[in-house]
Amino acid sequence: MLVRKNYNLKSLNTFGVDARAKRLMIIENFDDLTNLTDSSFYREKPVFFMGQGSNVLFVRDFPGVIVLNRLMGREVVEEDDDHVFLRVNAGESWTDLVDYTVGRGWGGLENMSLIPGTVGAAPVQNIGAYGVELKDVLDCVEVFDLRTGNLEMFSVKQCKLGYRTSIFKTDGKKHYLVTSIVLKLNKMPEVNIGYKALREYFTQNPVDEITIRDVSEAVKAIRRSKLPDASVLGSAGSFFKNPVVSAKKAGQLLSRFPGMPAFDTGDRRFKLAAGWLIEQCGWKGRREGDTGVYEKQALVLVNYGNATGKQIYDLSQRIVESVHEKFDILLEREVTVV
Ligand code: EPU
Repeated sequence: MLVRKNYNLKSLNTFGVDARAKRLMIIENFDDLTNLTDSSFYREKPVFFMGQGSNVLFVRDFPGVIVLNRLMGREVVEEDDDHVFLRVNAGESWTDLVDYTVGRGWGGLENMSLIPGTVGAAPVQNIGAYGVELKDVLDCVEVFDLRTGNLEMFSVKQCKLGYRTSIFKTDGKKHYLVTSIVLKLNKMPEVNIGYKALREYFTQNPVDEITIRDVSEAVKAIRRSKLPDASVLGSAGSFFKNPVVSAKKAGQLLSRFPGMPAFDTGDRRFKLAAGWLIEQCGWKGRREGDTGVYEKQALVLVNYGNATGKQIYDLSQRIVESVHEKFDILLEREVTVV
């Protein structure tokens, strides 16, 4: 286990903001986990678990311990004619994992190509893109409980996965460290191109028989055209969640704003597009000092170089207030503010 003191987190968060952690601990194997509970550093609360720092905004120095999960490895744990059950340790890169499974012809992850972050972070916020969420392919999650020092297996139901949330982001965020996940992948995959942007892509780039590799390439092309490359421009992907509102509220808004995107969730509620709401308030492409709203996707806040976490947070607050004023909707942050 590597331990660092007073560590600058700038290179460890994709927003690229300066913030120091009193301690940084790097977990590289299962013995480190046991040491973690014994360690006096760990008792120095607060504790924050981190993967690649792609969904976090540090607004000040962190007075406790940041635990970096770097548990590596993957193995097929079960296989039948139709499915492969693949166990992947939490420190692996999600993007590399998707490429690996697509390369083997195992379907399920292709719509989630190029999502930044580690495998361990995937269940924490139930990552999703282009019509597929982790929960659609997840079999179970193994966690280390810092209170007891035991490894536990969570079924999908126990993970309480929702839209960009789970038990690991809520009640269990201080004591459950995800150590590995098991995915149920399809050996005879059917492609899912129901998402509008994907359908449009294949209309413009027709293919005889669409494979999971084609879907993965399409998702990568769409993402590259809309989302900034964090190695060039600091960001954490979508900063806000898409708001879910009642059918009544959606109806009222649609009568005032007929062009507003609204997606029926099937339970008499509608998911609205936060990017659209923010754009309508005039924020898209606007820059304030070194912070700003990305010019190609209004849901993404960016750091042009030396923005502080506090400046990015303050910009997000002004956006929340203007969307609230115009649409009477309170946007919720997707990014974890620390
Ligand atoms: N839109 C605008 N203006 C914008 C951005 C979007 O009008 O500046 C409209 C689009 O025209 C479209 C709708 O909003 O009608 C939805 O846009 P898009 O398909 O780009 O997706 P999103 O809702 O903005 C969500 C996820 C993304 C994910 C995409 C594709 C959330 C918070 N974000 O974005 O996830 O890649 O769908 O599935 O759910 C992330 O979580 O970091 C992330 C990038």
